Amino acid sequence: MKIRRLPRLAYNVTSTIGTTIASIMLILIIILFITHSLVDIPNPYIGIFLYMVLPPVLVFGLLLIPIGMFREWRRLKRGGEAAYPKWPYIDFGKSSHRNAAIIFSIGTGIFVTLSSIGTYQAYHFTESVEFCGTTCHDVMHPEYIAYQKSPHARVPCAACHVGSGAGWYTKSKLSGMYQVYAVLADEYPKPIPTPIQSLRPAQETCEQCHWPERFYGAQQRQFNHYMYDENNTSWPINMLIKTGGGNPKTGQTAGIHWHMNINMQIEYIARDESRQVIPWVKITDRLTGRTTTYQNSDDPLSAEEIDSGTLRVMDCMDCHNRPSHIFNSPDYAIDLAILTGKIDPEIPDIKRIAVEVISENYESTSLGLLEIANTITEYYRNEYPELYKQKRVQIDDAILATKEAFSNNIFPEMKVLWSEYPENIGHFTDIGCMRCHSGNHESEEGLRISTDCNTCHIILSQGSGDRAEVSTSQEGLEFHHPEDIDLAWQEMGCHECHTGVQP
Ligand code: HEC
Ligand code: HEC
Ligand code: HEC
Ligand code: HEC
Ligand code: HEC
Ligand code: HEC
Repeated sequence: MKIRRLPRLAYNVTSTIGTTIASIMLILIIILFITHSLVDIPNPYIGIFLYMVLPPVLVFGLLLIPIGMFREWRRLKRGGEAAYPKWPYIDFGKSSHRNAAIIFSIGTGIFVTLSSIGTYQAYHFTESVEFCGTTCHDVMHPEYIAYQKSPHARVPCAACHVGSGAGWYTKSKLSGMYQVYAVLADEYPKPIPTPIQSLRPAQETCEQCHWPERFYGAQQRQFNHYMYDENNTSWPINMLIKTGGGNPKTGQTAGIHWHMNINMQIEYIARDESRQVIPWVKITDRLTGRTTTYQNSDDPLSAEEIDSGTLRVMDCMDCHNRPSHIFNSPDYAIDLAILTGKIDPEIPDIKRIAVEVISENYESTSLGLLEIANTITEYYRNEYPELYKQKRVQIDDAILATKEAFSNNIFPEMKVLWSEYPENIGHFTDIGCMRCHSGNHESEEGLRISTDCNTCHIILSQGSGDRAEVSTSQEGLEFHHPEDIDLAWQEMGCHECHTGVQP
């Protein structure tokens, strides 16, 4: 008689295939796991393979072993073999059964240990920036690029999009599964719509790192502009922004972060999905219970609209809606390139040409990059032939910087660009604060939400050269529009002319 090391039932084709699959997967997992831990390769596909593809195949292989044994037992029974009357049957008197039991116990031990390590690692992997930012490469590409140059470049995607706690983890992974399907089936919208309705409340994300009690004082900021004239005239505006917030000593609140005062609740109803048109605002003083309701007198909501409208409680994201995915307008992106010395402002007309060329509608990034180089080169070769010869190097640098401004901010494949995602901070390119601070939002008692320029900031200096003005008083300067547009800057919003391209 043949001596078997394992129970006779284990000798069948299905179980052998199962064992082979499981062993190969185990070896692959161990090799990949060691490589993944030792070598820092930022490739999400290794992670996906390691944590999402291989383990199910391994389990499938393991399952084949008992399935094969069961079928073998049925076959033997049908064949009338008397040795297999009942199932299961374990006889430690046989060395083959002892071996099987030992293999099974050790195998289970290893399997449970590996899966706990694996699950823990898989949890971290699916929360990593690497996974979120690069797996669905094309889909998340714009957000990932913008994220990497934002002030939150070191904050993991999950800190804002998932937050802590098992409930939100499961919720995000469930919706994630649908998203994976949508991407595979190419059924997702372009651009990806915001606001994200399921985004977790700011208290549980932003306020984990920035707590409102810590906000006070003001911030000085310089806004650098270059005009669209031949000289690319520089027009900086230096302002003190009254960020404010709670004063930790006196407990008083003032300034812009007054909205986040814990004693106040601001609610509003928007007309549109992207919350850009806000005709109705209500503030509630939590201490006295007093409420004030403001309506836009140009565009008030009817009683039915108020009843059926969705109330939203204002939080950080109503102003800081682009803390991490900042898609700059051509105007801003080129100003930044000039400011940082990547574009030489001595090249005549460069601001205008560069903005014009990147705001064209291109079918793809590569086509855009090609056109940018051609258009700028052609322009200087034809309009300024002498200068083109002298400043060849500077013009080539300017082309390079313009291409960079384009590819960092405009993504034709995903239809992502500044005008798709309004920025709610400020009021220069988008309506922002003026959604409520329009000057037309009035309460029944006749109170108005302030639109006075000095409510939110004071101007410390503005302009350059012989038109420069510097403030000598506490109140700052009155705003001086660089181009004569009469009183239009008081009567209209800046964003109505300054749309991110040439006004
Ligand atoms: C500092 C917080 C923060 C971080 C970090 C962050 N996001 Fe976002 N993300 C947001 C907010 C806020 C929105 C817009 C929500 C809204 O308007 O409702 C958003 C929107 C998005 C959108 C929708 C499209 C859009 O541009 O509005 C995508 C896609 C996205 N994020 C992906 C990512 C990825 C991928 C990462 C990591 C590489 C990441 N996010 C990191 C806060 C963050
Ligand atoms: C994991 C911690 C963390 C989370 C969560 C987080 N932030 Fe930040 N935030 C930071 C850090 C770090 C900085 C950079 C501070 C610096 O540059 O000095 C920053 C900077 C900022 C700034 C200043 C930007 C600037 O231009 O200097 C704003 C505004 C801001 N965060 C808003 C938000 C909002 C809104 C959210 C929620 C959507 C959020 N943060 C979530 C850590 C976080
Ligand atoms: C009626 C349209 C209109 C309105 C409203 C308007 N501007 Fe302008 N703005 C212009 C024009 C036109 C120019 C000249 C473009 C050039 O040659 O630089 C200009 C130029 C500027 C510049 C010089 C740099 C640049 O980008 O061209 C600044 C800064 C500026 N405006 C700020 C503002 C601010 C702030 C407001 C709102 C308080 C505002 N403007 C409102 C039309 C407008
Ligand atoms: C009414 C609009 C508004 C709301 C609501 C708001 N902020 Fe701000 N926040 C601003 C403005 C405006 C600035 C000034 C900086 C600027 O102009 O970019 C600022 C500045 C900041 C800064 C940088 C300056 C600092 O003091 O460190 C952080 C961080 C910040 N906000 C976080 C938050 C968080 C977190 C929340 C929610 C609790 C919040 N903000 C709510 C408008 C707002
Ligand atoms: C959803 C509507 C809404 C939006 C959007 C909004 N505000 Fe307000 N804001 C209000 C209301 C309501 C008041 C209270 C008016 C009052 O009491 O006179 C207020 C008051 C203020 C005050 C005065 C606070 C004080 O010291 O009494 C400042 C400063 C301010 N807002 C700045 C901003 C800035 C900056 C933005 C844009 C980043 C902004 N607000 C966006 C509704 C809004
Ligand atoms: C409700 C508050 C509020 C009011 C009222 C307000 N501003 Fe502003 N303004 C802001 C904030 C906040 C920013 C900063 C935006 C940022 O950080 O990008 C800003 C930015 C600016 C800038 C720089 C814009 C840029 O990108 O270069 C100018 C200039 C300016 N404001 C002028 C004015 C003038 C003129 C008025 C009066 C007609 C006015 N503001 C009224 C909140 C306000």
